[in-house]
Amino acid sequence: MTKKKYAVTVAGGGSTFTPGIALMLLEHMDRFPIRKIMFYDNDAERQEVVAQACRIYLKEHAPEIEFGYTTDPETAFTDIDFVLAHIRVGKYAMRELDEKIPLKYGVLGQETCGPGGIAYGMRSIGGVIEILDYMEQYSPNAWMLNYSNPAAIVAEATRRLRPDSKILNICDMPIDLEEKMADMCGLSSRKEMQVGYYGLNHFGWWHKIYDNNGNDLMPQIKEHMKANGFADALSDTNQHVDESWVHTFQKARDVYAVDPETIPNTYLKYYLFPDYVVETSDPEYTRANEVMDGREKFVFGECRRIVENGTSKGCAFEADAHATYIVDLACAIAENTQERFLLIVPNEGAVENFDRTAMVEIPCIVGCNGYEKICQGAIPQFQKGLMEQQVSVEKLTVEAWIEGSYQKLWQALTLSKTVPSARIAKLILDDLIEANKDFWPELK
Ligand code: NAD
Ligand code: G6P
Ligand code: MN
Repeated sequence: MTKKKYAVTVAGGGSTFTPGIALMLLEHMDRFPIRKIMFYDNDAERQEVVAQACRIYLKEHAPEIEFGYTTDPETAFTDIDFVLAHIRVGKYAMRELDEKIPLKYGVLGQETCGPGGIAYGMRSIGGVIEILDYMEQYSPNAWMLNYSNPAAIVAEATRRLRPDSKILNICDMPIDLEEKMADMCGLSSRKEMQVGYYGLNHFGWWHKIYDNNGNDLMPQIKEHMKANGFADALSDTNQHVDESWVHTFQKARDVYAVDPETIPNTYLKYYLFPDYVVETSDPEYTRANEVMDGREKFVFGECRRIVENGTSKGCAFEADAHATYIVDLACAIAENTQERFLLIVPNEGAVENFDRTAMVEIPCIVGCNGYEKICQGAIPQFQKGLMEQQVSVEKLTVEAWIEGSYQKLWQALTLSKTVPSARIAKLILDDLIEANKDFWPELK
């Protein structure tokens, strides 16, 4: 029997991650055969550059795949099996403001954490829901694998607004950190470990890690965390390599010290050491500037070169190594592999002593009918306290978006552990409203 071939739409075709993901898809055709790749974006000009280069690459490496790109939803979402969604509503220009506005008031500026994450969430909700609706309208049997950020707020919005949709929300940070932990233990891949993990997206902890023979790997990993955080581990990915990421991996040592019983996600540094983050930030040059000067220039420069040369020969693109989890996830659904993934899903008791309606990040088993959650039991007071505060920030943001409520968004900012007072929250909010007037619903 010939294996079924799949049609995939990449939403956010103009993303800096699109070429790496396209190359990665081609590398895995033996287990995830593809008949069609479509790119969809609402910025025709930006997508054009990436798509023209990918067209040349595909023609030279996989001419049998039908390829197209469009800004028309019907063309993009008709006759497809999977949507890989990585949109950034407002692009880097708005990310820069998300990061710089809070810093004006001495509050950290970050893509997905604190006021910046809330602002980005208020922009992303509408964009992701729109794509989900297009998918359901034109390909009702398709699945969306969403990694558009801020994933915690986006996931809560889809739970509230589209609870029955076929969407899986996933993050790549635990993938990279698990690769690093596997390396610490002398294993060749994170797939040689089984983990217990609980939290919210960009806000979680590993509490169990075993090898395939059931041996406890926590003692070894804890030794490394205590000495150098995640910094002395290697992982063979080409993401998270800039200097600022190296600092984040080192800082995980201090984050770990706050609770030496668990291994923290790197993003917890923004909540546990916000003063340090502000002190080490340059309010004139944030991560958005680094990304625009680095990854964006590189990807678009390389795409333009491919188009000018009329060939992808000698191009510097590499398959995005750690994005293979996307193929693993698509395969799990397509082939019913019953593989384990950390997904962002409704709690409903999986974390026993935590809000049933929260979107939590926990291990799940994935197959053709979706996911089954793996219960993580009761969590300690420290994590529970932090998560209750943060999940309330996320829920209030989504409520603010749905109701158009200024009050609730002010409460969301006030409640964020990164913001010192309701006064500062209001100052930041009023600046963010002005900056986001083309993107946010009107707040009353
Ligand atoms: P990017 O700005 O280069 O690409 C995003 C693209 O989305 C742009 O081409 C933009 O025009 C497009 N877009 C914006 N709004 C849209 C809409 N409503 N409909 C269709 N297209 C739209 O950004 P990037 O740095 O490549 O990141 C892309 C996304 O992936 C971001 O949300 C980022 O946070 C996310 N990301 C998530 C993870 C994860 O772990 N979950 C990892 C890496 C990146
Ligand atoms: C990690 C996170 C993503 C986030 C990215 C930011 O991979 O899991 O959710 O988007 O880092 O990376 P960047 O290079 O854009 O700062
Ligand atoms: Mn993430």
